[in-house]
Amino acid sequence: MTLFLRACRREPVARTPVWFMRQAGRYMPEYRAIKERASFLEMCRTPDLAVEITLQPVRALGVDVAILFSDILIPVAAMGIEVEFAPGPVVRHPIRDRAAVDALRVPEPAESVPFVLESLRRLRGELAPQVALLGFCGAPWTLANYLVEGGGAKEFVRMKQLCFEDPTTAERLLDKLTATNAAYLCAQVAAGAQAVQIFDTWAGILDADDYERWALPYVQTIVRAVRAVGAPVIYFARDSGALLPLLAQTGADVISLDWRVPLDQARARFGTGVAVQGNLDPAVLFAPWDEVARRTDRVLQRAGRTPGHIFNLGHGVLQGTPVDTVRRVVEHVHTRTVAGS
Ligand code: CP3
Repeated sequence: MTLFLRACRREPVARTPVWFMRQAGRYMPEYRAIKERASFLEMCRTPDLAVEITLQPVRALGVDVAILFSDILIPVAAMGIEVEFAPGPVVRHPIRDRAAVDALRVPEPAESVPFVLESLRRLRGELAPQVALLGFCGAPWTLANYLVEGGGAKEFVRMKQLCFEDPTTAERLLDKLTATNAAYLCAQVAAGAQAVQIFDTWAGILDADDYERWALPYVQTIVRAVRAVGAPVIYFARDSGALLPLLAQTGADVISLDWRVPLDQARARFGTGVAVQGNLDPAVLFAPWDEVARRTDRVLQRAGRTPGHIFNLGHGVLQGTPVDTVRRVVEHVHTRTVAGS
């Protein structure tokens, strides 16, 4: 079994596995070269391109995980929503009332996203056995915010407004997103994903009570569905310091945290029943190497020696990040954590 899967299961590992959220993207020259001749949607929907882009950071950085190149809005578009990328998601007709929610389909993955499943099957065949293949989806709360808002926003307020004004419609939207993404993740596992990550980028705009009402139960349903088909689940909740006591209740095998929460405090809170992932500040990758090394060591130290740590950033790789620094972090974590050293 790969180091990564062992770490997800909190088994001892020969060294700490490393990968990075958004490890493929514009900071890489190989990615920009493909981007010159294809749109982002074409890149996601064409297995030749999606497979190639997924492999780029594996080759360039030596990471332990290949995360499928796609986006959290891809399966949602198949529900009957027009999504464009500019480069962030733009939803032409935001979902704001009962009729719009009722019109959404819960699609069958084999029909709605065959290109995702095809890419995963090919990746499974092409990856070296020591590199794990990771699938993903967005959490219902985070996806609902993009759909109701119509895209990214400075303040995500419209989904909260829907929750206050018409809770039944808000619940119905979250239910449909839950059903779509549970089926989507299970199909990814059947196609070769060995683990999956649920991205809850906007969990942190909720206080603990609202998180318990509008986010947690839907994540729990997805986690149960994926664990029933035998794959470990990572749950990433950004800006979730105030939600720590609730995160372990998702049932996820691994909780992925941003850089604001020290991993030793998180582990003390979660106990030994859950692994952790993270959590170097992505901005640190712009620092001189000595500082990067010092901060990387601090993350490793706080993660401690208890099995169940996957090294990652606290959020995605930022545009303009020096590729060589990212590569050196992988090397550094690998040499620093070799068992017995
Ligand atoms: O991690 C990986 O390498 C896999 C690919 C991946 C992308 N998006 C590619 C992408 C993953 C896992 C995502 C998840 C995603 N998408 C999230 C959750 C993680 C997070 O970052 O918080 C969210 C909120 C989205 C929605 C989304 N898609 C946004 C906000 C943006 C704009 C971001 C930007 O960098 O401008 C996108 C577009 C997007 N998704 C790009 C990439 C590589 C940029 C497209 C381009 O090259 O122009």
